[in-house]
Amino acid sequence: MNNIFRTKPIESLIAETKGKDSLKKALGPLELTMLGVGAIIGTGIFVLTGVAAAKYSGPALILSFIVSGLACAFAALCYAEFASTVPVAGSAYTYSYAALGEFWAWIIGWDLILEYMVAIGAVAVGWSAYAVNLLGAVGINLPKAITSSPLEGGIVNLPAVLIILVITYLLVSGVEQSSKVNNIIVAIKLIVILLFIVLAVGHVKPANWHPFMPFGWGGVFSGAAIVFFAYIGFDAVSTAAEEVKNPQKDLPKGIVLSLLLCTALYIIVSAILTGVVPYLQFKDTAAPVAFALKQIGINWGSALVSVGAICGITSVLLVMMFGQTRIFFAMSRDGLLPKVFGQVHHKFKTPVKSTLLVGIVTMVIAGFIPIGDLAELTNIGTLAAFIIVSIGVVVLRYRRPDIKRGFKCPGAPITPAISVIFCAILIFMLPNITKIRFVVWFLLGIIVYFAYSKNHSTMNNDSSETAE
Ligand code: ALA
Repeated sequence: MNNIFRTKPIESLIAETKGKDSLKKALGPLELTMLGVGAIIGTGIFVLTGVAAAKYSGPALILSFIVSGLACAFAALCYAEFASTVPVAGSAYTYSYAALGEFWAWIIGWDLILEYMVAIGAVAVGWSAYAVNLLGAVGINLPKAITSSPLEGGIVNLPAVLIILVITYLLVSGVEQSSKVNNIIVAIKLIVILLFIVLAVGHVKPANWHPFMPFGWGGVFSGAAIVFFAYIGFDAVSTAAEEVKNPQKDLPKGIVLSLLLCTALYIIVSAILTGVVPYLQFKDTAAPVAFALKQIGINWGSALVSVGAICGITSVLLVMMFGQTRIFFAMSRDGLLPKVFGQVHHKFKTPVKSTLLVGIVTMVIAGFIPIGDLAELTNIGTLAAFIIVSIGVVVLRYRRPDIKRGFKCPGAPITPAISVIFCAILIFMLPNITKIRFVVWFLLGIIVYFAYSKNHSTMNNDSSETAE
């Protein structure tokens, strides 16, 4: 049977995780929440808030964060149900294989490759900007030729390439070690954000919040589509499923807790930011949080925030690269990508080859492509994944009511439906060029599927498949 909508039985998905190529189980609920926060707080809050406030939302930035946060909250509940039902590496990709069938799984996997690759590129370029900024503040000025892409008048963005090299090394050397490094970095960035809140809250001038919505509701929603980037990452928690000690309980906790914590921080930070500095002043800064502290004369705080931002963005890279390699791992195990990327190194117990591939490709992206286009593509890719996961939850409830769910999305099917509507609105608010690029990537994916993946799928030799 070679049906492109064949689904993988959940029992066989779980059984596959127990073979010789299995990953080491080292993560508990605290590590997972830290992994989530590590992936979530980064370029979005430290860089994109300024652009969103100045261009789209104005002081209503807080509303943009609430709209985006709501979209993510509904999607997160769907992710949590899936993660507790199908605790297998591969996140949305694997869920779709179980619920919607191979073709949709391939589409979502292909979409996630785009999302993670471009996100890693964008975040590394953001890291580079902060690093160059901080070096400049201590008198070390790097030439433009080695700090920006050819399209921006440079040759290569070397700091962005180097940070990816370091992260690749960490991931190759083992998940336990990486998660310890991640915990330290996350603690630093949480402290820095709390520091910003404490230092700036006394300097809020309510007059700066007027006019509250200078660009109307349209601006609030366009701003929401941009700051959505700040929330991306909680879904990466589910890509670690096979390295979790007690996945059915811990995964939903990790997803929901990390999202809640970050949403609360974002709402507070965005209210304070726009209360401290008139929103139009954010137009020319790539470091709005540090900039706000400088404006109120707290230079030491501004420098500390910059250091924290660099740490924060580093941990985003760590989790994003981790997530991408696990998606490759799952797709190649299923035969949809060449087998070589599913191999686990006997000594390190990590998928070394796929980690190296992700490292090399993202180094090229980060070194030679500007940040803006990458961030928008990331958002559209992620929103599409959220939509498919939300639909998948409902479909799986209908097709497999019998299986054990460690966590059930409350209010289904209404909650998943709201998630789909919110995500579709945010996609609609993104620029048309982003939508066109996204469609082109999809068409490419369909060609690869029919030319390679469909014929190499391990389901071709599997008698347990369920053709729908
Ligand atoms: N949420 C991540 C960030 O803000 C992608 O950098």
